[in-house]
Amino acid sequence: MIATDEKDINGLRAAGRVCAQAMHLMMESVKPGMTTLELDRIGEEFLKKNGAKSAPRVMYNFPGGTCISIVPVIAHGIPNEHVIEDGELINIDVSAELNGYFGDTGASMVVGTPNPEYSKLLEATKSTLEKVLTVVRAGKPLNIIGKTVQQEANKNGYNPIFDLTGHGIGRQLHDKPSSIYNFHKPDDRRTMDNGLVLAIEPFFTTGQGHVVEKADGWSLKTVDNTIAAQFEHTVIITKDEPIILTLP
Ligand code: CO
Ligand code: CO
Repeated sequence: MIATDEKDINGLRAAGRVCAQAMHLMMESVKPGMTTLELDRIGEEFLKKNGAKSAPRVMYNFPGGTCISIVPVIAHGIPNEHVIEDGELINIDVSAELNGYFGDTGASMVVGTPNPEYSKLLEATKSTLEKVLTVVRAGKPLNIIGKTVQQEANKNGYNPIFDLTGHGIGRQLHDKPSSIYNFHKPDDRRTMDNGLVLAIEPFFTTGQGHVVEKADGWSLKTVDNTIAAQFEHTVIITKDEPIILTLP
């Protein structure tokens, strides 16, 4: 959607904030020995308590309130009886609807004991999202996102995940423009309008950059079982720096 008036901007801010707060609560709560279902309950209960509804559950009948993915699964992981272990690389993605507006945010982290390989991947992916947020502007090509993500990935010795994209968002979880690529695509001639609301979500991997769906019909894992990380913010594009909506 295009959000330029105060009512829409405030509605989106509130939705973004509740998603970010739920995600941060989950990141603070995650501990070895708990199941991903227990972690999911913490997030979804927080959403409910604050008047928000899990977007994947409401929109897509997803069997969970949030997406919890344990590498090599990197997206749409179903909360279940998996017992989280020390040192696992986990991605938590929270999207929700509040008063007719949607927010979407995600982050990857190591549970418990860090290791240099994971830390480097996490740092590179996170700083790439931050870099993208400094280059997006109204009037610029939409694919400046993909170009920046791919450049940063390659510079750090990674690939972007070519199959996973960002998306427009607003009064729906997935709005126009669809397919905000995480790679340079010269024939993508779309530009960003002032007020455009986007979920920007770079994914980096040590592998080839492709995912396959698991037999559960949801979980997306790297095709080569390599590690991957994602960081996501919902933002409003402006003539200056974007407004970041998914801040706690
Ligand atoms: Co998300
Ligand atoms: Co998203």
